[in-house]
Amino acid sequence: MGLDMMVERNTSDQEEREEEEEEKAAKNRYTKGVKHLLEIGISSVPKDYILPPQDRPRVTDKDLEHGSNFCLPVVDMARLRSLSAADRIQALEAVDKACKEYGFFQVVNHGMNEEGMRRMMAAGRRFFEQGFEERKKWMTSDIRGKVRYGTSFNQINDTVFCWRDFLKLNCQPLQEMLPLCPSSPKDLRDEVVSYVEEIQVLFLEIMAVVLEALGVRKEEALMEEFEEGSHMLIVNYFPPCPNPDLTLGMPPHSDYGFLTLLLQDDVAGLQVYHRDRWFTINPLFNSIVVNIGDHLEIFSNGRYKSVLHRVLVNSTKPRMSIASLHSLPFSSTVRPAAALIDDAGRGRLYKDTDFAAFLNYISSHDANRKSFLETRKLTPNGQRG
Ligand code: OGA
Ligand code: NI
Repeated sequence: MGLDMMVERNTSDQEEREEEEEEKAAKNRYTKGVKHLLEIGISSVPKDYILPPQDRPRVTDKDLEHGSNFCLPVVDMARLRSLSAADRIQALEAVDKACKEYGFFQVVNHGMNEEGMRRMMAAGRRFFEQGFEERKKWMTSDIRGKVRYGTSFNQINDTVFCWRDFLKLNCQPLQEMLPLCPSSPKDLRDEVVSYVEEIQVLFLEIMAVVLEALGVRKEEALMEEFEEGSHMLIVNYFPPCPNPDLTLGMPPHSDYGFLTLLLQDDVAGLQVYHRDRWFTINPLFNSIVVNIGDHLEIFSNGRYKSVLHRVLVNSTKPRMSIASLHSLPFSSTVRPAAALIDDAGRGRLYKDTDFAAFLNYISSHDANRKSFLETRKLTPNGQRG
Protein backbone atom coordinates (compact mmCIF):
# COMPACT_ATOMS: atom_id res chain seq x y z
CA MET A 1 0.00 0.00 0.00
CA GLY A 2 1.42 3.37 -0.96
CA LEU A 3 2.05 5.99 1.66
CA ASP A 4 -0.55 8.25 0.10
CA MET A 5 -3.24 5.65 0.48
CA MET A 6 -2.31 4.97 4.09
CA VAL A 7 -2.53 8.63 4.93
CA GLU A 8 -5.90 8.75 3.23
CA ARG A 9 -7.11 5.68 5.11
CA ASN A 10 -5.99 7.23 8.41
CA THR A 11 -7.75 10.47 7.69
CA SER A 12 -10.95 8.73 6.76
CA ASP A 13 -10.74 6.55 9.91
CA GLN A 14 -10.28 9.67 11.90
CA GLU A 15 -13.16 11.37 10.12
CA GLU A 16 -15.34 8.39 10.84
CA ARG A 17 -14.37 8.48 14.50
CA GLU A 18 -15.05 12.19 14.67
CA GLU A 19 -18.42 11.67 13.06
CA GLU A 20 -19.23 8.95 15.57
CA GLU A 21 -18.15 11.22 18.43
CA GLU A 22 -20.29 14.01 17.03
CA GLU A 23 -23.31 11.66 16.74
CA LYS A 24 -22.81 10.58 20.34
CA ALA A 25 -22.55 14.17 21.50
CA ALA A 26 -25.70 15.03 19.56
CA LYS A 27 -27.65 12.10 21.08
CA ASN A 28 -26.42 13.23 24.46
CA ARG A 29 -27.81 16.71 23.80
CA TYR A 30 -31.13 15.24 22.65
CA THR A 31 -31.61 13.23 25.84
CA LYS A 32 -31.58 16.52 27.73
CA GLY A 33 -34.85 17.39 26.07
CA VAL A 34 -36.22 19.71 23.43
CA LYS A 35 -36.54 22.68 25.74
CA HIS A 36 -32.82 22.32 26.34
CA LEU A 37 -32.18 22.41 22.58
CA LEU A 38 -33.96 25.76 22.39
CA GLU A 39 -32.03 27.01 25.41
CA ILE A 40 -28.73 26.26 23.73
CA GLY A 41 -29.91 28.23 20.73
CA ILE A 42 -30.81 25.85 17.91
CA SER A 43 -32.85 27.55 15.20
CA SER A 44 -34.02 24.58 13.17
CA VAL A 45 -34.85 21.01 14.20
CA PRO A 46 -31.86 18.63 14.13
CA LYS A 47 -32.10 15.86 11.54
CA ASP A 48 -32.93 13.18 14.14
CA TYR A 49 -36.28 14.92 14.70
CA ILE A 50 -37.25 15.03 11.03
CA LEU A 51 -39.90 12.51 10.06
CA PRO A 52 -39.92 10.80 6.68
CA PRO A 53 -42.17 12.84 4.34
CA GLN A 54 -45.13 10.42 4.53
CA ASP A 55 -45.26 10.68 8.35
CA ARG A 56 -45.11 14.47 8.54
CA PRO A 57 -48.21 16.35 9.61
CA ARG A 58 -49.86 18.33 6.85
CA VAL A 59 -51.12 21.16 8.98
CA THR A 60 -50.04 24.73 9.38
CA ASP A 61 -50.00 27.01 12.41
CA LYS A 62 -52.95 28.79 10.78
CA ASP A 63 -55.06 25.61 10.75
CA LEU A 64 -54.27 25.14 14.41
CA GLU A 65 -55.19 28.69 15.33
CA HIS A 66 -58.49 28.70 13.49
CA GLY A 67 -59.34 25.29 14.83
CA SER A 68 -61.28 22.56 13.15
CA ASN A 69 -65.02 22.14 13.33
CA PHE A 70 -64.55 18.59 14.51
CA CYS A 71 -66.10 18.06 17.90
CA LEU A 72 -65.78 15.06 20.16
CA PRO A 73 -68.95 13.73 21.80
CA VAL A 74 -69.51 15.54 25.10
CA VAL A 75 -70.56 13.63 28.22
CA ASP A 76 -72.16 15.75 30.92
CA MET A 77 -71.39 14.03 34.21
CA ALA A 78 -73.79 16.20 36.23
CA ARG A 79 -76.65 15.20 33.93
CA LEU A 80 -75.69 11.55 34.11
CA ARG A 81 -75.74 11.72 37.91
CA SER A 82 -79.21 13.24 38.03
CA LEU A 83 -81.06 11.22 35.42
CA SER A 84 -83.99 8.95 36.02
CA ALA A 85 -83.41 5.30 35.17
CA ALA A 86 -85.13 5.57 31.78
CA ASP A 87 -83.20 8.66 30.70
CA ARG A 88 -80.01 7.11 31.99
CA ILE A 89 -80.34 4.28 29.51
CA GLN A 90 -80.32 6.80 26.68
CA ALA A 91 -77.34 8.65 28.11
CA LEU A 92 -75.47 5.36 28.43
CA GLU A 93 -76.26 4.56 24.82
CA ALA A 94 -74.60 7.85 23.89
CA VAL A 95 -71.50 6.87 25.88
CA ASP A 96 -71.47 3.46 24.19
CA LYS A 97 -71.70 5.14 20.78
CA ALA A 98 -68.88 7.56 21.63
CA CYS A 99 -66.68 4.66 22.76
CA LYS A 100 -67.44 2.63 19.64
CA GLU A 101 -67.28 5.35 17.03
CA TYR A 102 -64.56 7.60 18.39
CA GLY A 103 -62.81 5.89 21.27
CA PHE A 104 -62.69 9.42 22.67
CA PHE A 105 -65.10 11.78 24.42
CA GLN A 106 -64.95 14.93 26.53
CA VAL A 107 -66.47 15.22 29.95
CA VAL A 108 -67.92 18.41 31.38
CA ASN A 109 -69.37 19.11 34.83
CA HIS A 110 -66.94 16.49 36.01
CA GLY A 111 -66.74 17.76 39.58
CA MET A 112 -62.98 18.35 39.60
CA ASN A 113 -61.96 21.56 41.32
CA GLU A 114 -61.34 23.87 38.36
CA GLU A 115 -59.06 26.18 40.34
CA GLY A 116 -57.09 23.09 41.33
CA MET A 117 -56.80 22.03 37.68
CA ARG A 118 -55.40 25.43 36.81
CA ARG A 119 -52.97 25.38 39.73
CA MET A 120 -51.74 21.89 38.77
CA MET A 121 -51.17 23.06 35.21
CA ALA A 122 -49.37 26.20 36.43
CA ALA A 123 -47.11 24.24 38.81
CA GLY A 124 -46.25 21.79 36.02
CA ARG A 125 -45.45 24.67 33.71
CA ARG A 126 -43.13 26.20 36.29
CA PHE A 127 -41.32 22.88 36.59
CA PHE A 128 -40.42 23.03 32.90
CA GLU A 129 -39.64 26.73 32.99
CA GLN A 130 -36.86 26.16 35.50
CA GLY A 131 -33.28 25.92 34.30
CA PHE A 132 -31.96 22.61 32.99
CA GLU A 133 -29.76 22.14 36.07
CA GLU A 134 -32.89 21.90 38.20
CA ARG A 135 -34.89 19.74 35.77
CA LYS A 136 -32.10 17.29 35.17
CA LYS A 137 -32.14 16.07 38.78
CA TRP A 138 -35.11 13.90 37.73
CA MET A 139 -33.69 12.75 34.43
CA THR A 140 -33.41 8.98 34.09
CA SER A 141 -33.80 6.50 31.27
CA ASP A 142 -35.10 3.84 33.69
CA ILE A 143 -38.66 3.24 32.48
CA ARG A 144 -39.49 1.64 35.81
CA GLY A 145 -38.51 4.73 37.81
CA LYS A 146 -41.31 6.17 39.98
CA VAL A 147 -40.45 9.70 38.89
CA ARG A 148 -38.94 10.38 35.54
CA TYR A 149 -38.10 13.51 33.62
CA GLY A 150 -37.44 12.65 30.02
CA THR A 151 -38.03 13.52 26.43
CA SER A 152 -39.39 12.25 23.10
CA PHE A 153 -41.78 9.25 23.05
CA ASN A 154 -39.76 6.18 23.91
CA GLN A 155 -36.28 7.60 24.30
CA ILE A 156 -34.52 4.25 24.12
CA ASN A 157 -36.07 2.98 20.93
CA ASP A 158 -37.27 6.01 19.01
CA THR A 159 -35.85 6.03 15.52
CA VAL A 160 -37.02 9.61 15.05
CA PHE A 161 -37.18 11.78 18.16
CA CYS A 162 -40.23 13.83 18.91
CA TRP A 163 -40.72 17.32 20.22
CA ARG A 164 -41.86 16.65 23.75
CA ASP A 165 -40.41 16.77 27.25
CA PHE A 166 -42.27 15.08 30.09
CA LEU A 167 -42.40 14.43 33.78
CA LYS A 168 -43.87 11.00 34.59
CA LEU A 169 -45.12 10.30 38.07
CA ASN A 170 -46.09 6.77 39.02
CA CYS A 171 -48.85 7.63 41.50
CA GLN A 172 -49.71 4.19 42.87
CA PRO A 173 -49.11 4.21 45.75
CA LEU A 174 -48.95 7.96 46.02
CA GLN A 175 -47.12 7.91 49.34
CA GLU A 176 -44.19 6.08 47.81
CA MET A 177 -43.89 8.44 44.88
CA LEU A 178 -44.26 11.72 46.79
CA PRO A 179 -40.85 11.90 48.48
CA LEU A 180 -39.31 11.40 45.03
CA CYS A 181 -41.49 14.01 43.30
CA PRO A 182 -39.69 17.27 42.41
CA SER A 183 -39.89 19.72 45.30
CA SER A 184 -39.26 22.65 43.01
CA PRO A 185 -41.44 24.51 42.22
CA LYS A 186 -42.41 24.44 45.88
CA ASP A 187 -46.12 23.91 45.34
CA LEU A 188 -45.77 21.03 42.86
CA ARG A 189 -46.13 18.19 45.38
CA ASP A 190 -49.24 19.69 46.99
CA GLU A 191 -50.85 20.27 43.63
CA VAL A 192 -50.02 16.74 42.51
CA VAL A 193 -51.62 15.29 45.66
CA SER A 194 -54.87 17.22 45.17
CA TYR A 195 -54.99 16.55 41.45
CA VAL A 196 -54.24 12.83 41.77
CA GLU A 197 -56.88 12.35 44.47
CA GLU A 198 -59.56 14.14 42.46
CA ILE A 199 -58.79 12.59 39.10
CA GLN A 200 -58.75 9.11 40.63
CA VAL A 201 -62.30 9.68 41.91
CA LEU A 202 -63.36 10.94 38.48
CA PHE A 203 -61.70 7.97 36.79
CA LEU A 204 -63.62 5.54 39.02
CA GLU A 205 -66.88 7.28 38.22
CA ILE A 206 -66.23 7.30 34.46
CA MET A 207 -64.99 3.72 34.53
CA ALA A 208 -68.23 2.61 36.21
CA VAL A 209 -70.23 4.46 33.54
CA VAL A 210 -68.20 2.87 30.75
CA LEU A 211 -68.67 -0.62 32.22
CA GLU A 212 -72.40 0.05 32.38
CA ALA A 213 -72.37 1.27 28.77
CA LEU A 214 -70.46 -1.84 27.80
CA GLY A 215 -73.15 -3.94 29.41
CA VAL A 216 -70.84 -5.53 31.94
CA ARG A 217 -72.19 -5.50 35.45
CA LYS A 218 -69.83 -3.37 37.46
CA GLU A 219 -68.64 -6.12 39.68
CA GLU A 220 -67.57 -5.03 43.13
CA ALA A 221 -64.36 -6.98 42.82
CA LEU A 222 -63.34 -5.25 39.61
CA MET A 223 -64.16 -1.79 40.95
CA GLU A 224 -62.12 -2.58 44.05
CA GLU A 225 -59.20 -3.51 41.85
CA PHE A 226 -59.49 -0.18 40.07
CA GLU A 227 -59.43 1.62 43.42
CA GLU A 228 -55.94 0.24 43.92
CA GLY A 229 -55.21 0.46 40.21
CA SER A 230 -52.09 1.71 38.52
CA HIS A 231 -52.06 5.43 37.94
CA MET A 232 -49.44 7.22 35.88
CA LEU A 233 -49.54 10.99 35.71
CA ILE A 234 -47.67 12.44 32.74
CA VAL A 235 -47.04 16.15 32.55
CA ASN A 236 -46.27 16.87 28.89
CA TYR A 237 -44.46 19.98 27.76
CA PHE A 238 -44.24 20.80 24.05
CA PRO A 239 -42.04 23.86 23.51
CA PRO A 240 -42.49 25.98 20.37
CA CYS A 241 -40.82 24.23 17.47
CA PRO A 242 -38.89 25.96 14.68
CA ASN A 243 -40.15 23.44 12.08
CA PRO A 244 -43.57 22.16 13.18
CA ASP A 245 -44.20 20.73 9.72
CA LEU A 246 -41.26 18.30 9.95
CA THR A 247 -41.83 16.68 13.33
CA LEU A 248 -44.47 15.76 15.92
CA GLY A 249 -44.91 16.32 19.65
CA MET A 250 -45.96 12.67 19.95
CA PRO A 251 -46.13 10.08 17.17
CA PRO A 252 -49.33 8.14 16.42
CA HIS A 253 -49.88 5.88 19.42
CA SER A 254 -52.55 4.36 21.61
CA ASP A 255 -52.40 4.50 25.41
CA TYR A 256 -51.85 1.25 27.29
CA GLY A 257 -54.32 1.47 30.20
CA PHE A 258 -58.10 1.25 30.53
CA LEU A 259 -58.80 4.97 30.29
CA THR A 260 -56.70 8.10 29.90
CA LEU A 261 -58.04 11.35 31.32
CA LEU A 262 -56.37 14.31 29.68
CA LEU A 263 -56.27 17.92 30.75
CA GLN A 264 -54.91 20.24 28.08
CA ASP A 265 -54.19 23.95 28.12
CA ASP A 266 -55.73 26.29 25.55
CA VAL A 267 -53.23 25.54 22.77
CA ALA A 268 -54.49 23.04 20.19
CA GLY A 269 -52.27 20.11 19.25
CA LEU A 270 -54.00 16.81 20.02
CA GLN A 271 -55.19 14.96 16.93
CA VAL A 272 -57.34 11.84 16.79
CA TYR A 273 -57.41 9.34 13.96
CA HIS A 274 -61.01 8.95 12.92
CA ARG A 275 -62.46 7.60 9.68
CA ASP A 276 -59.07 7.41 8.00
CA ARG A 277 -57.95 10.91 8.75
CA TRP A 278 -56.53 13.12 11.48
CA PHE A 279 -58.79 15.55 13.32
CA THR A 280 -57.60 18.28 15.65
CA ILE A 281 -59.36 18.42 19.02
CA ASN A 282 -60.14 22.01 19.92
CA PRO A 283 -59.48 22.47 23.62
CA LEU A 284 -62.79 22.91 25.44
CA PHE A 285 -62.26 25.07 28.52
CA ASN A 286 -62.32 23.12 31.81
CA SER A 287 -63.20 19.85 30.12
CA ILE A 288 -61.35 16.57 30.42
CA VAL A 289 -60.70 14.46 27.33
CA VAL A 290 -61.19 10.74 27.93
CA ASN A 291 -59.86 8.02 25.67
CA ILE A 292 -59.89 4.26 25.58
CA GLY A 293 -56.62 2.45 26.09
CA ASP A 294 -55.33 -0.97 24.99
CA HIS A 295 -56.32 -2.67 28.25
CA LEU A 296 -59.96 -1.68 27.80
CA GLU A 297 -59.84 -2.89 24.21
CA ILE A 298 -58.69 -6.26 25.57
CA PHE A 299 -61.16 -6.27 28.47
CA SER A 300 -64.05 -5.37 26.14
CA ASN A 301 -62.92 -8.15 23.80
CA GLY A 302 -62.61 -5.61 21.01
CA ARG A 303 -66.00 -3.91 21.39
CA TYR A 304 -64.24 -0.69 22.30
CA LYS A 305 -61.01 0.03 20.48
CA SER A 306 -58.08 2.09 21.66
CA VAL A 307 -57.70 4.85 19.09
CA LEU A 308 -54.57 6.29 17.55
CA HIS A 309 -53.78 9.85 18.44
CA ARG A 310 -50.78 12.12 18.02
CA VAL A 311 -49.68 15.63 18.96
CA LEU A 312 -48.79 18.50 16.64
CA VAL A 313 -46.45 21.25 17.67
CA ASN A 314 -46.49 24.87 16.55
CA SER A 315 -43.89 27.55 16.06
CA THR A 316 -45.06 30.14 18.55
CA LYS A 317 -46.64 28.79 21.72
CA PRO A 318 -45.52 26.19 24.21
CA ARG A 319 -48.29 23.66 24.83
CA MET A 320 -48.97 21.66 27.97
CA SER A 321 -51.11 18.69 28.81
CA ILE A 322 -51.50 16.40 31.80
CA ALA A 323 -52.37 12.82 30.96
CA SER A 324 -53.64 10.53 33.67
CA LEU A 325 -53.34 6.86 32.67
CA HIS A 326 -55.41 4.41 34.69
CA SER A 327 -55.52 0.64 34.73
CA LEU A 328 -55.72 -2.37 37.02
CA PRO A 329 -52.97 -2.87 39.60
CA PHE A 330 -49.54 -3.50 38.22
CA SER A 331 -49.67 -7.17 39.23
CA SER A 332 -53.11 -7.90 37.72
CA THR A 333 -53.75 -9.71 34.49
CA VAL A 334 -55.93 -8.01 31.89
CA ARG A 335 -58.21 -10.37 29.99
CA PRO A 336 -61.45 -10.19 28.03
CA ALA A 337 -64.48 -10.06 30.38
CA ALA A 338 -66.13 -13.47 30.56
CA ALA A 339 -69.51 -11.92 29.74
CA LEU A 340 -68.14 -10.56 26.48
CA ILE A 341 -66.76 -13.82 25.19
CA ASP A 342 -68.95 -16.10 23.16
CA ASP A 343 -72.09 -14.08 23.15
CA ALA A 344 -73.25 -13.33 19.61
CA GLY A 345 -70.63 -15.75 18.35
CA ARG A 346 -67.68 -13.65 19.41
CA GLY A 347 -64.88 -15.82 20.73
CA ARG A 348 -61.99 -14.57 22.73
CA LEU A 349 -60.00 -12.11 20.61
CA TYR A 350 -57.08 -11.26 22.91
CA LYS A 351 -54.53 -13.05 24.99
CA ASP A 352 -54.14 -12.35 28.68
CA THR A 353 -51.65 -9.61 29.26
CA ASP A 354 -49.88 -7.95 32.13
CA PHE A 355 -47.68 -4.95 32.76
CA ALA A 356 -44.51 -6.99 32.78
CA ALA A 357 -45.16 -8.06 29.17
CA PHE A 358 -45.86 -4.46 28.21
CA LEU A 359 -42.74 -3.07 29.89
CA ASN A 360 -40.59 -5.75 28.31
CA TYR A 361 -42.08 -4.87 24.98
CA ILE A 362 -41.52 -1.13 25.19
CA SER A 363 -37.98 -1.51 26.41
CA SER A 364 -37.10 -3.44 23.27
CA HIS A 365 -39.38 -2.06 20.55
CA ASP A 366 -40.38 1.17 18.96
CA ALA A 367 -43.80 1.01 20.61
CA ASN A 368 -45.68 3.48 18.50
CA ARG A 369 -48.93 2.95 16.62
CA LYS A 370 -50.72 0.02 18.23
CA SER A 371 -47.86 -2.38 17.93
CA PHE A 372 -48.03 -3.80 21.46
CA LEU A 373 -51.73 -4.55 21.15
CA GLU A 374 -51.10 -6.32 17.86
CA THR A 375 -48.98 -8.83 19.78
CA ARG A 376 -51.91 -9.59 22.09
CA LYS A 377 -54.43 -10.48 19.38
CA LEU A 378 -55.82 -13.94 18.77
CA THR A 379 -57.46 -14.99 15.54
CA PRO A 380 -61.29 -14.91 15.75
CA ASN A 381 -61.64 -18.63 16.45
CA GLY A 382 -59.52 -18.22 19.52
CA GLN A 383 -56.23 -19.52 18.23
CA ARG A 384 -53.00 -17.70 18.57
CA GLY A 385 -52.49 -15.30 15.65
C1 OGA B 1 -50.26 11.09 25.97
C2 OGA B 1 -50.98 11.89 24.97
C3 OGA B 1 -51.87 13.98 24.24
C4 OGA B 1 -51.67 15.43 24.43
O1 OGA B 1 -49.65 11.69 26.88
O2 OGA B 1 -50.32 9.85 25.88
O3 OGA B 1 -51.48 11.32 24.03
O4 OGA B 1 -52.53 16.18 23.96
N1 OGA B 1 -51.07 13.22 25.12
O5 OGA B 1 -50.70 15.84 25.04
NI1 NI C 1 -51.63 9.23 24.41
